[in-house]
Amino acid sequence: MSLLTTVLAVLPLFVDADVDLASPLVFDPIFYVNTNADLHHLGINTEAAAKQHWLSKGISEGRQGCGSFHSRQYLKRYSDLTKAYGTDYHQAVVHYLNHQSEKRLGYVDGGYSGRWTISNHDHDLFVSASGRMGGAIDSLVWDNKEFINAWDHGRELQMATNTHPYGECFNPTEAGGRDDSIGPSTKSKIISISSHGSTLKTTNHPAFWLRHGGHEAPGSKNRICSGGAPARNTVDTYGYDFSKNVTIGCAGMSHCIKFESMFTVAGEWPAGVTTHNFEAPTGYMTKDFRVLKGLNLGTGRIQPYASGQPVVLATSDLKHAMGAYAPTGQDTDEPHYYSGIVFGSAFPSGTSKWGSVFRKKAFPHGSSNKLFYVTYICVGSLDQVSECLKKLHATYPKV
Ligand SMILES: *[C@@H]1O[C@H](CO)[C@@H](O)[C@H](O)[C@H]1NC(C)=O
Repeated sequence: MSLLTTVLAVLPLFVDADVDLASPLVFDPIFYVNTNADLHHLGINTEAAAKQHWLSKGISEGRQGCGSFHSRQYLKRYSDLTKAYGTDYHQAVVHYLNHQSEKRLGYVDGGYSGRWTISNHDHDLFVSASGRMGGAIDSLVWDNKEFINAWDHGRELQMATNTHPYGECFNPTEAGGRDDSIGPSTKSKIISISSHGSTLKTTNHPAFWLRHGGHEAPGSKNRICSGGAPARNTVDTYGYDFSKNVTIGCAGMSHCIKFESMFTVAGEWPAGVTTHNFEAPTGYMTKDFRVLKGLNLGTGRIQPYASGQPVVLATSDLKHAMGAYAPTGQDTDEPHYYSGIVFGSAFPSGTSKWGSVFRKKAFPHGSSNKLFYVTYICVGSLDQVSECLKKLHATYPKV
């Protein structure tokens, strides 16, 4: 064997040995298991099993391992890489990891293969929506960490409405219904979707949480729509628009997201509704976000959570956090409130949630109404999120 042949034969091995193919730049176990909905049914439900599957199969199959990078999109985006690697997804992952200094992006602007991704100017914050979730946001990556839990269709970072006194028994939900479960598709319908640069726009017809003819789970402890109660909807999918415009960058800050939403209330609402609650939006976080806080807008200090103050969820080391802020002066009949709850911590379903909730009294029967709301979302360390929320409050006390 000549020296040259020896070098060529050894080189690919050397390159591979040098990179961590399960680096957070390309792989997040929670995103991986939740997004690749077939894995659960293969019994892959631990971090170790997820990593093993990614390394042994997922990479070469061209699966997406995290919200900010996808080998198929990376190859599609750069023609020199398509030329060099064709559909060799393994080589695409290795190239991305080895050429970070080139600052190439791991996704296709405008959307590709069921995912629509936007990012900020610094390209360290990525937000994406999927077809699996009807265009709802099911991934947000900052500092190479996944923030959003996309286990079933009731999580994500999404819009929803429920009504008093029917609750989940009449509950159009952007990402899908209860019976969409952890599966790959949804009863929600995408009407339009676009993602360019830092702006994502979607319109969908949301699934009702319970399908027509369905019932609330027998064990449910909901006060309204209690265990066994029937769905009040007469179809599976609400026939009117939910829309959103999501823009990264607000008040001069690149880790701030403006979430503008529009809910249509028309036609199919059951008689007897007294109040509409608009979750605009609610964010379901991964199991790592277990510290629930609020920002006291009076003192400017982070304090224990209280529903009247901007809500923050953080990891226990406080290095990763997300907070929400809604300016006053919006279209409500009752005070806006922030919700925050920490649930279980199991992999991969464990979650906690925050919400920005606007409330209206019932509309005249048969009327058609469009409700517009804006909530800002800050991402960073707990300190950065606190500063961001304060700046938003100073810049936009009112809409
Ligand atoms: C989104 O932006 C479009 C203009 O491009 C506007 O017509 C629409 O009302 C906006 N939607 C929301 C929910 O703010």
